[in-house]
Amino acid sequence: MSLYQRACGVIPGGVSSPVRAFGSVGGEPVFIERARGPYLYDTDGREYVDAVGSWGPALLGHAHPEVVAAVQAAAARGLSFGAPTRAEVDLAEAVRARVPEAEKVRFVSTGTEACMTAIRLARGATGRDLIVKFAGCYHGHSDGLLAAAGSGVATQGLPGSAGVTAATAAQTIVVPFNDTAALTEAFEAHPGRIAAVITEPAPANMGVVPPRPGFNAFLRRITSEHGALLIYDEVLTGFRVGPSGWWGLEGSADPGRAEPPADAPDLFTFGKVVGGGMPLAAIGGRTEVMDLLAPLGPVYQAGTLSGNPLATAAGIATLQLADASIYQRVDAASAAVQEAIGAALSEAGVPHLVQAAGSLFTVFFGEFDGPVENYPAAQRQDGAAFARFFHSMLDAGVALPPSGYEAWFLSAAHDDAALNRIVEALPAAARA
Ligand SMILES: Cc1ncc(COP(=O)(O)O)c(C=O)c1O
Repeated sequence: MSLYQRACGVIPGGVSSPVRAFGSVGGEPVFIERARGPYLYDTDGREYVDAVGSWGPALLGHAHPEVVAAVQAAAARGLSFGAPTRAEVDLAEAVRARVPEAEKVRFVSTGTEACMTAIRLARGATGRDLIVKFAGCYHGHSDGLLAAAGSGVATQGLPGSAGVTAATAAQTIVVPFNDTAALTEAFEAHPGRIAAVITEPAPANMGVVPPRPGFNAFLRRITSEHGALLIYDEVLTGFRVGPSGWWGLEGSADPGRAEPPADAPDLFTFGKVVGGGMPLAAIGGRTEVMDLLAPLGPVYQAGTLSGNPLATAAGIATLQLADASIYQRVDAASAAVQEAIGAALSEAGVPHLVQAAGSLFTVFFGEFDGPVENYPAAQRQDGAAFARFFHSMLDAGVALPPSGYEAWFLSAAHDDAALNRIVEALPAAARA
């Protein structure tokens, strides 16, 4: 019996998270035994160049010796205390040093929790009930945020999720990404009722779909005009596309400034890189909003393992190591792979579109008139072509995200040897 068959006997679908199941590309998922630098090793000892990076956290590559040493040292001091620690303070200060607009930071264990808490906080701050999200953006799997939620649900071909009550779904207004008119209409249709707009400031869960120039500034203006909060979900982009995430690339993040810039979002959510591969995520934002959280304020939020000492150790070590040279290496690796993909697909006569936001990128297979700017456009991609490409790459020892709705995640550990293996696998995959 294969490990996958055993897994299916005890775990629904054999996986702990649905996108791992190869649902949209077919075949059996690869079970991983260990990973190092840019490489994964499966349970049969086969080596793969990894372009998944644990779906984002592995910015430095896998099992970076200094991160592993920090976690081992923390483990030797105790696995969990259920009490405050110095490491939480150090990590919160490290986050704020990079994103000064995250004046206060609360740690949780997953991006789902961070976004769920940000929504509750926005409702508590405004006394309003409705939330706006964009179709194709994913903010974790809490009930109210599962509508039109991009990659995971799109990969499974589901419109949303069973088990979400109609009453909960009715409190989430879904509008097309990059569509200022639709958002304006939503605010006009629900005067004084919208608590917050939550966005991925550079979405990467419907494939990578950058915001149109000025779109994020528009979000800030319209939310301010209507007394709603703006939430930047940087669980995926935070500390990955640059030292201060997408906000640092596009916004006015300036670690030296005294006052928050006028276009700053009210709240941020972070995850993935900030936990260095351990279960850790965070909500950050303006003091007056963040101080509404219990124990200071009336918005309740809690977690037995929140701010766990192993997770904070991994996060601190990762942020300390992630200096400018790391981001330069990730950017260079990403640019090289994007160029090679474009060349291989063009050479094989395969219609495609490579789209990027910072170092994140996706390949959309199919004919596109212009850039993919929203979820319906992303859904026009040729999933069968992606599946053939994916399996050819996997057979050649390159592990891609098993869905055309995901970004590719490279790392600073992707050296020339690893990049060459990706490049060498491309022509056959393009022909497939
Ligand atoms: C933008 C974004 N927000 C939230 C989440 C949820 O994070 P988690 O899987 O840690 O719950 C994800 C996960 O991929 C994400 O990409």
